[in-house]
Amino acid sequence: MKNLIRPSVAAMHAYVPGEQPDGADVLKLNTNENPYPPSPKVFEALGRVDADILRKYPHPSAGKLRSALAELHGVRPEQVFVGNGSDEVLALCTRAFCEPGGRVGQMAPSYSLYPVLCEIAGLACVEFPLEADFSWRVPDRLDVSLFFLTRPNAPTGLCVPLDDVRAAANRCDGVLLVDEAYADFAEDDAVGLLNECPNLMVSRSFSKSHGLAGIRMGYVLGSPELVGALDKIKDSYNTNVLSQRMALAAIEDVSWMRSNVTAVRGTRHATAKKLTERGYEVLPSQTNFLFAKVPEGVDAAELHAKLRARNVYLRHFPGPRTGPYLRITVGTDAQMERFFRVLDQA
Ligand SMILES: Cc1ncc(COP(=O)(O)O)c(C=O)c1O
Repeated sequence: MKNLIRPSVAAMHAYVPGEQPDGADVLKLNTNENPYPPSPKVFEALGRVDADILRKYPHPSAGKLRSALAELHGVRPEQVFVGNGSDEVLALCTRAFCEPGGRVGQMAPSYSLYPVLCEIAGLACVEFPLEADFSWRVPDRLDVSLFFLTRPNAPTGLCVPLDDVRAAANRCDGVLLVDEAYADFAEDDAVGLLNECPNLMVSRSFSKSHGLAGIRMGYVLGSPELVGALDKIKDSYNTNVLSQRMALAAIEDVSWMRSNVTAVRGTRHATAKKLTERGYEVLPSQTNFLFAKVPEGVDAAELHAKLRARNVYLRHFPGPRTGPYLRITVGTDAQMERFFRVLDQA
Protein backbone atom coordinates (compact mmCIF):
# COMPACT_ATOMS: atom_id res chain seq x y z
CA MET A 1 0.00 0.00 0.00
CA LYS A 2 1.09 3.56 -0.72
CA ASN A 3 2.76 5.24 2.24
CA LEU A 4 0.08 7.64 3.45
CA ILE A 5 2.06 9.15 6.29
CA ARG A 6 4.61 11.96 5.94
CA PRO A 7 7.99 10.13 6.13
CA SER A 8 9.29 12.38 8.91
CA VAL A 9 6.17 11.68 10.98
CA ALA A 10 6.43 7.95 10.29
CA ALA A 11 10.05 8.03 11.50
CA MET A 12 9.62 10.23 14.56
CA HIS A 13 9.24 9.22 18.20
CA ALA A 14 6.20 10.68 19.92
CA TYR A 15 6.53 12.55 23.20
CA VAL A 16 6.02 10.25 26.17
CA PRO A 17 3.98 12.03 28.84
CA GLY A 18 3.99 10.84 32.46
CA GLU A 19 1.49 8.09 33.18
CA GLN A 20 -2.04 9.01 34.31
CA PRO A 21 -3.01 5.85 36.17
CA ASP A 22 -6.57 5.36 37.43
CA GLY A 23 -7.44 4.20 40.91
CA ALA A 24 -8.10 5.83 44.27
CA ASP A 25 -5.05 4.25 45.88
CA VAL A 26 -2.50 5.68 43.45
CA LEU A 27 0.02 8.19 44.79
CA LYS A 28 0.85 10.30 41.76
CA LEU A 29 4.16 12.08 42.17
CA ASN A 30 5.13 11.80 38.49
CA THR A 31 3.77 14.76 36.50
CA ASN A 32 4.29 17.77 38.78
CA GLU A 33 0.62 18.42 39.34
CA ASN A 34 -0.39 20.48 42.37
CA PRO A 35 -1.60 18.32 45.27
CA TYR A 36 -4.03 21.08 46.35
CA PRO A 37 -7.29 21.94 44.60
CA PRO A 38 -7.74 25.12 42.58
CA SER A 39 -9.42 28.19 44.08
CA PRO A 40 -13.12 27.79 45.03
CA LYS A 41 -13.69 30.80 42.73
CA VAL A 42 -12.91 28.48 39.80
CA PHE A 43 -15.87 26.27 40.72
CA GLU A 44 -18.10 29.31 41.21
CA ALA A 45 -17.20 30.46 37.69
CA LEU A 46 -18.06 27.04 36.35
CA GLY A 47 -21.42 27.18 38.14
CA ARG A 48 -22.26 30.39 36.28
CA VAL A 49 -21.88 28.76 32.87
CA ASP A 50 -25.22 28.44 31.09
CA ALA A 51 -26.46 27.07 27.77
CA ASP A 52 -26.05 30.39 25.99
CA ILE A 53 -22.38 30.53 26.88
CA LEU A 54 -21.87 27.00 25.59
CA ARG A 55 -23.91 27.64 22.44
CA LYS A 56 -21.56 30.37 21.24
CA TYR A 57 -17.92 30.23 20.19
CA PRO A 58 -15.46 31.44 22.82
CA HIS A 59 -13.69 34.78 22.52
CA PRO A 60 -11.02 33.98 19.88
CA SER A 61 -8.13 35.49 21.80
CA ALA A 62 -9.50 35.06 25.35
CA GLY A 63 -9.83 38.86 25.61
CA LYS A 64 -10.81 39.16 29.28
CA LEU A 65 -8.20 36.68 30.40
CA ARG A 66 -5.56 38.45 28.35
CA SER A 67 -6.39 41.78 29.96
CA ALA A 68 -6.37 40.27 33.44
CA LEU A 69 -3.01 38.58 32.81
CA ALA A 70 -1.62 41.85 31.44
CA GLU A 71 -2.65 43.63 34.63
CA LEU A 72 -1.22 40.83 36.78
CA HIS A 73 2.19 41.13 35.11
CA GLY A 74 2.22 44.89 34.48
CA VAL A 75 2.28 44.61 30.68
CA ARG A 76 -0.16 45.60 27.91
CA PRO A 77 -2.86 43.15 26.73
CA GLU A 78 -1.23 43.02 23.29
CA GLN A 79 1.84 41.58 25.01
CA VAL A 80 -0.08 38.47 26.15
CA PHE A 81 -0.88 35.37 24.10
CA VAL A 82 -3.09 32.67 25.63
CA GLY A 83 -2.78 29.03 24.58
CA ASN A 84 -4.19 25.57 25.18
CA GLY A 85 -1.58 24.82 27.85
CA SER A 86 1.90 26.27 27.60
CA ASP A 87 2.73 23.26 25.43
CA GLU A 88 0.62 24.79 22.65
CA VAL A 89 2.44 28.09 23.06
CA LEU A 90 5.80 26.32 22.70
CA ALA A 91 4.62 24.49 19.57
CA LEU A 92 3.35 27.72 18.01
CA CYS A 93 6.72 29.36 18.70
CA THR A 94 8.48 26.70 16.61
CA ARG A 95 6.14 27.55 13.74
CA ALA A 96 6.08 31.34 14.10
CA PHE A 97 9.80 32.00 14.57
CA CYS A 98 11.58 29.30 12.54
CA GLU A 99 11.70 28.51 8.84
CA PRO A 100 11.50 24.76 8.03
CA GLY A 101 15.01 23.31 8.25
CA GLY A 102 16.04 25.94 10.81
CA ARG A 103 17.68 25.55 14.21
CA VAL A 104 16.17 25.56 17.70
CA GLY A 105 18.30 25.43 20.84
CA GLN A 106 17.72 24.02 24.30
CA MET A 107 19.70 23.26 27.42
CA ALA A 108 20.31 19.55 27.95
CA PRO A 109 18.93 17.86 29.91
CA SER A 110 15.70 19.81 29.86
CA TYR A 111 12.01 19.41 29.03
CA SER A 112 11.78 16.37 26.75
CA LEU A 113 8.96 17.85 24.65
CA TYR A 114 11.23 20.36 22.85
CA PRO A 115 12.97 17.86 20.51
CA VAL A 116 9.58 16.39 19.60
CA LEU A 117 8.19 19.83 18.72
CA CYS A 118 11.25 20.43 16.56
CA GLU A 119 10.83 17.11 14.79
CA ILE A 120 7.18 17.85 14.03
CA ALA A 121 8.11 21.25 12.60
CA GLY A 122 11.09 19.91 10.60
CA LEU A 123 13.66 21.79 12.68
CA ALA A 124 17.05 20.76 14.02
CA CYS A 125 17.07 20.69 17.82
CA VAL A 126 20.54 21.75 18.97
CA GLU A 127 21.49 20.79 22.53
CA PHE A 128 23.59 23.14 24.67
CA PRO A 129 24.67 20.77 27.48
CA LEU A 130 24.56 21.65 31.15
CA GLU A 131 27.73 21.32 33.25
CA ALA A 132 28.34 18.27 35.46
CA ASP A 133 26.51 20.01 38.34
CA PHE A 134 23.59 20.86 35.99
CA SER A 135 24.40 24.58 36.00
CA TRP A 136 24.48 26.33 32.62
CA ARG A 137 27.34 28.37 31.16
CA VAL A 138 25.90 30.76 28.59
CA PRO A 139 27.58 30.07 25.23
CA ASP A 140 29.22 32.98 23.38
CA ARG A 141 26.57 32.76 20.71
CA LEU A 142 23.20 31.06 20.39
CA ASP A 143 22.94 30.75 16.61
CA VAL A 144 19.34 29.58 16.55
CA SER A 145 15.98 31.05 15.53
CA LEU A 146 14.46 30.03 18.85
CA PHE A 147 16.01 29.01 22.16
CA PHE A 148 14.07 27.28 24.95
CA LEU A 149 15.56 28.45 28.24
CA THR A 150 13.74 26.54 30.94
CA ARG A 151 13.71 28.46 34.21
CA PRO A 152 13.47 26.79 36.64
CA ASN A 153 14.69 23.88 34.58
CA ALA A 154 12.96 20.52 34.41
CA PRO A 155 13.90 17.90 35.47
CA THR A 156 16.69 19.49 37.54
CA GLY A 157 14.65 22.15 39.38
CA LEU A 158 17.57 24.62 39.12
CA CYS A 159 17.37 28.27 38.03
CA VAL A 160 19.78 30.01 35.65
CA PRO A 161 20.64 33.40 37.26
CA LEU A 162 18.75 36.34 35.73
CA ASP A 163 22.02 37.97 34.58
CA ASP A 164 22.65 34.85 32.51
CA VAL A 165 19.15 35.02 31.02
CA ARG A 166 19.88 38.60 29.96
CA ALA A 167 23.24 37.51 28.49
CA ALA A 168 21.59 34.63 26.66
CA ALA A 169 18.97 36.97 25.15
CA ASN A 170 21.72 39.33 23.99
CA ARG A 171 23.70 36.45 22.44
CA CYS A 172 20.72 34.78 20.80
CA ASP A 173 20.15 35.36 17.07
CA GLY A 174 16.44 34.58 17.44
CA VAL A 175 13.72 34.51 20.07
CA LEU A 176 14.74 33.52 23.60
CA LEU A 177 11.73 31.78 25.10
CA VAL A 178 12.03 31.53 28.88
CA ASP A 179 9.81 28.60 29.82
CA GLU A 180 8.56 29.53 33.29
CA ALA A 181 6.04 26.73 33.85
CA TYR A 182 7.34 26.46 37.46
CA ALA A 183 8.20 30.12 38.14
CA ASP A 184 5.63 30.62 40.90
CA PHE A 185 7.61 28.15 43.04
CA ALA A 186 10.90 29.99 42.38
CA GLU A 187 12.53 32.98 44.03
CA ASP A 188 12.37 35.30 41.02
CA ASP A 189 11.30 35.38 37.38
CA ALA A 190 12.31 36.88 34.05
CA VAL A 191 9.23 39.05 33.42
CA GLY A 192 11.20 42.15 34.44
CA LEU A 193 13.62 41.55 31.55
CA LEU A 194 10.90 41.94 28.89
CA ASN A 195 11.44 45.70 28.62
CA GLU A 196 15.20 45.32 28.24
CA CYS A 197 15.31 42.41 25.76
CA PRO A 198 13.09 42.74 22.67
CA ASN A 199 13.74 39.12 21.62
CA LEU A 200 12.68 37.66 24.99
CA MET A 201 9.39 35.90 25.72
CA VAL A 202 8.22 34.34 29.00
CA SER A 203 5.78 31.43 29.02
CA ARG A 204 3.64 30.42 32.00
CA SER A 205 1.25 27.62 32.88
CA PHE A 206 -1.93 27.25 34.93
CA SER A 207 -1.10 23.55 35.33
CA LYS A 208 1.32 23.70 38.23
CA SER A 209 0.92 26.54 40.75
CA HIS A 210 -2.81 27.07 40.08
CA GLY A 211 -3.63 23.34 40.22
CA LEU A 212 -5.40 23.47 36.86
CA ALA A 213 -3.54 21.00 34.64
CA GLY A 214 -6.89 19.56 33.53
CA ILE A 215 -8.17 22.76 31.91
CA ARG A 216 -5.15 23.18 29.60
CA MET A 217 -4.26 26.84 29.91
CA GLY A 218 -0.96 28.58 29.40
CA TYR A 219 0.26 31.90 28.11
CA VAL A 220 3.29 33.78 26.95
CA LEU A 221 4.38 37.40 27.43
CA GLY A 222 6.46 39.27 24.88
CA SER A 223 6.55 42.26 22.58
CA PRO A 224 3.36 43.05 20.61
CA GLU A 225 5.24 42.06 17.42
CA LEU A 226 6.15 38.57 18.68
CA VAL A 227 2.71 38.06 20.24
CA GLY A 228 1.13 39.24 16.98
CA ALA A 229 3.00 36.52 15.07
CA LEU A 230 1.54 33.84 17.37
CA ASP A 231 -1.94 35.36 16.97
CA LYS A 232 -1.63 35.09 13.21
CA ILE A 233 -1.00 31.34 13.15
CA LYS A 234 -3.09 30.02 16.03
CA ASP A 235 -6.35 28.11 15.55
CA SER A 236 -9.24 30.59 15.53
CA TYR A 237 -10.58 29.28 18.85
CA ASN A 238 -7.52 27.72 20.43
CA THR A 239 -8.85 27.93 24.01
CA ASN A 240 -12.36 27.00 25.10
CA VAL A 241 -14.85 29.12 27.02
CA LEU A 242 -14.83 26.96 30.18
CA SER A 243 -11.06 27.08 30.48
CA GLN A 244 -11.01 30.82 29.82
CA ARG A 245 -13.50 31.45 32.61
CA MET A 246 -11.83 29.11 35.07
CA ALA A 247 -8.39 30.60 34.42
CA LEU A 248 -9.76 34.10 34.86
CA ALA A 249 -11.31 33.12 38.20
CA ALA A 250 -8.00 31.58 39.29
CA ILE A 251 -6.01 34.74 38.71
CA GLU A 252 -8.68 36.83 40.39
CA ASP A 253 -7.81 34.77 43.48
CA VAL A 254 -4.05 34.76 43.19
CA SER A 255 -3.65 34.66 46.98
CA TRP A 256 -5.12 31.12 46.94
CA MET A 257 -2.38 30.04 44.56
CA ARG A 258 0.28 31.79 46.65
CA SER A 259 -0.75 30.05 49.85
CA ASN A 260 -0.65 26.64 48.13
CA VAL A 261 2.79 27.50 46.75
CA THR A 262 3.96 28.33 50.28
CA ALA A 263 2.68 24.94 51.49
CA VAL A 264 4.40 23.10 48.64
CA ARG A 265 7.67 24.91 49.31
CA GLY A 266 7.50 23.91 52.99
CA THR A 267 6.92 20.25 52.07
CA ARG A 268 9.66 20.48 49.44
CA HIS A 269 12.14 21.57 52.09
CA ALA A 270 11.11 18.80 54.52
CA THR A 271 11.16 16.15 51.78
CA ALA A 272 14.61 17.18 50.57
CA LYS A 273 15.91 16.91 54.14
CA LYS A 274 14.47 13.42 54.62
CA LEU A 275 15.84 12.24 51.29
CA THR A 276 19.28 13.61 52.17
CA GLU A 277 19.18 11.74 55.50
CA ARG A 278 18.58 8.55 53.49
CA GLY A 279 21.67 9.10 51.33
CA TYR A 280 20.06 10.79 48.32
CA GLU A 281 21.79 13.76 46.69
CA VAL A 282 19.04 16.30 46.19
CA LEU A 283 19.44 19.29 43.88
CA PRO A 284 18.25 22.60 45.41
CA SER A 285 14.84 22.89 43.80
CA GLN A 286 12.95 26.06 42.89
CA THR A 287 9.99 24.06 41.61
CA ASN A 288 7.28 21.74 42.92
CA PHE A 289 9.47 18.68 42.39
CA LEU A 290 12.81 17.33 43.57
CA PHE A 291 15.49 15.77 41.40
CA ALA A 292 17.31 13.29 43.60
CA LYS A 293 20.27 11.03 42.87
CA VAL A 294 19.72 7.63 44.41
CA PRO A 295 22.30 6.37 46.95
CA GLU A 296 25.37 4.39 45.83
CA GLY A 297 24.45 0.80 44.98
CA VAL A 298 20.78 1.58 44.24
CA ASP A 299 19.48 1.33 40.66
CA ALA A 300 17.10 4.23 40.03
CA ALA A 301 15.15 2.44 37.29
CA GLU A 302 14.64 -0.60 39.52
CA LEU A 303 13.58 1.50 42.48
CA HIS A 304 11.18 3.40 40.22
CA ALA A 305 9.62 0.10 39.11
CA LYS A 306 9.38 -1.21 42.69
CA LEU A 307 7.59 1.92 43.85
CA ARG A 308 5.28 1.77 40.85
CA ALA A 309 4.35 -1.80 41.75
CA ARG A 310 3.36 -0.39 45.16
CA ASN A 311 1.19 2.29 43.50
CA VAL A 312 3.66 5.15 44.02
CA TYR A 313 4.41 6.83 40.70
CA LEU A 314 7.58 8.89 40.24
CA ARG A 315 9.35 9.86 37.02
CA HIS A 316 12.60 8.31 35.83
CA PHE A 317 14.42 9.60 32.76
CA PRO A 318 16.83 6.94 31.42
CA GLY A 319 20.14 8.10 29.98
CA PRO A 320 23.69 8.76 31.13
CA ARG A 321 23.01 12.14 32.78
CA THR A 322 19.56 11.59 34.27
CA GLY A 323 19.57 7.78 34.74
CA PRO A 324 20.80 7.79 38.37
CA TYR A 325 18.09 10.27 39.41
CA LEU A 326 14.41 10.15 40.27
CA ARG A 327 12.10 13.13 39.84
CA ILE A 328 9.65 13.36 42.70
CA THR A 329 6.68 15.74 42.61
CA VAL A 330 6.07 17.39 45.98
CA GLY A 331 2.68 16.31 47.34
CA THR A 332 0.91 17.13 50.60
CA ASP A 333 2.65 16.31 53.90
CA ALA A 334 0.43 13.23 54.27
CA GLN A 335 1.27 12.05 50.75
CA MET A 336 4.99 12.45 51.41
CA GLU A 337 4.68 10.44 54.63
CA ARG A 338 3.18 7.61 52.59
CA PHE A 339 5.91 8.05 49.99
CA PHE A 340 8.62 7.61 52.65
CA ARG A 341 6.87 4.58 54.18
CA VAL A 342 6.80 2.87 50.78
CA LEU A 343 10.32 4.03 49.89
CA ASP A 344 11.70 2.61 53.12
CA GLN A 345 10.03 -0.76 52.43
CA ALA A 346 11.24 -0.80 48.83
C1 LIG B 1 9.21 22.86 31.58
C2 LIG B 1 7.78 22.67 31.22
N1 LIG B 1 7.22 23.50 30.35
C3 LIG B 1 5.93 23.36 29.98
C4 LIG B 1 5.16 22.34 30.49
C5 LIG B 1 3.75 22.18 29.99
O1 LIG B 1 2.82 22.86 30.73
P1 LIG B 1 1.31 22.94 30.28
O2 LIG B 1 0.58 21.98 31.14
O3 LIG B 1 0.93 24.37 30.54
O4 LIG B 1 1.21 22.61 28.83
C6 LIG B 1 5.70 21.45 31.40
C7 LIG B 1 4.87 20.35 31.92
O5 LIG B 1 5.27 19.47 32.62
C8 LIG B 1 7.04 21.61 31.77
O6 LIG B 1 7.64 20.75 32.61
